[in-house]
Amino acid sequence: MKTMAVLICGGAGYIGSHINKLLAQKGYETIVFDNLVYGHREAVKWGRFVEGDLKNSDELDAVFEKFSVEAVLHFAAFAYVGESVVQPEKYYYNNVVNTLNLLHAMKEHGCDKIIFSSTCATYGVPEKLPITEDLPQKPINPYGATKLMVERIFKDYACAYGLKFAVLRYFNAAGADPKGELGESHNPETHLIPLVLEAAAGERADIKVFGTDYPTPDGSCIRDYIHVSDLATAHLLALEYLEKGGASDFFNLGNAQGTSVLEVIETAKKVTGKNFAVTFAPRRAGDPAVLIGSSEKAQKVLGWRPRYGDIETIVSHAWQWLKKREY
Ligand SMILES: NC(=O)c1ccc[n+]([C@@H]2O[C@H](COP(=O)([O-])OP(=O)(O)OC[C@H]3O[C@@H](n4cnc5c(N)ncnc54)[C@H](O)[C@@H]3O)[C@@H](O)[C@H]2O)c1
Repeated sequence: MKTMAVLICGGAGYIGSHINKLLAQKGYETIVFDNLVYGHREAVKWGRFVEGDLKNSDELDAVFEKFSVEAVLHFAAFAYVGESVVQPEKYYYNNVVNTLNLLHAMKEHGCDKIIFSSTCATYGVPEKLPITEDLPQKPINPYGATKLMVERIFKDYACAYGLKFAVLRYFNAAGADPKGELGESHNPETHLIPLVLEAAAGERADIKVFGTDYPTPDGSCIRDYIHVSDLATAHLLALEYLEKGGASDFFNLGNAQGTSVLEVIETAKKVTGKNFAVTFAPRRAGDPAVLIGSSEKAQKVLGWRPRYGDIETIVSHAWQWLKKREY
């Protein structure tokens, strides 16, 4: 008899690897499926690893034939907003078409549960704050549009084929495994906290602040940082929710707390004890001044409570990882 397993697509990446750790610790049989285009083989420390690409239906079929997949957690995507503007085709193929391949394989093999990594970028420039799930979704770049399209596809699959889904719209994922076993390692890196810490470690000459004239208290952009281990807990709860027959739904995952770019820099200086150069540049097109998410719904429906909410803890864990990172 085949044991029941969960399939983690993109589980060699930053967020997926943390979820793999938590699910394995909770006794799930995990299978990470990743083409390693951005992921790291060293980050798959638990469960099984299958090197494969969502664009190849044969590789997906082989996984579903070999294992009895109870549910899929789908992290595999391209996520560079700027690149999505100049190379939209790359994004529509990988994030939308390849997700359709995955959904097709699930349908053919009788797997009906999926948890999906969506994003606050589906909201575009929000009409009000904090952002709740019912606000209009008007993405302002192809990356956000691909994620919104997938959300729509899920609704249609739910209606026609009985797909059960939990869509998790993350705000800014940050931090690292508190035990230091995993962390963030994107190449190229575009996320603020690792960039600031690389400056603190002397790995980059300076940190650039884009825009100091936003309508915020210190003039820099404000974002909502959510610890990657809190994201992991939310995925576990979403999986349990679907397993118990919970209705398909959409959840924001943020801390309902904003931190400005300059505050992140100050926190990094405090945590690391290092000084580094900060340079100021004009605003980047398409950066909303403030993004803060309400996760009241996830708290109420899933029983989720972020544990590592404060920015100092998030930056400390990221620093602990960066100092001795393995990949
Ligand atoms: N990092 C954030 O702050 C953030 C915020 C909102 C949403 N998200 C979403 O969360 C997910 C994970 O983000 P991350 O930061 O861990 O990214 P990541 O790049 O570290 O992980 C994505 C993984 O997917 C794999 N992958 C990509 N295309 C694939 C394919 N066709 N077949 C197989 N594997 C493939 C990559 O190799 C990588 O390991 C993404 O879908 C992203 O859009 C991330």
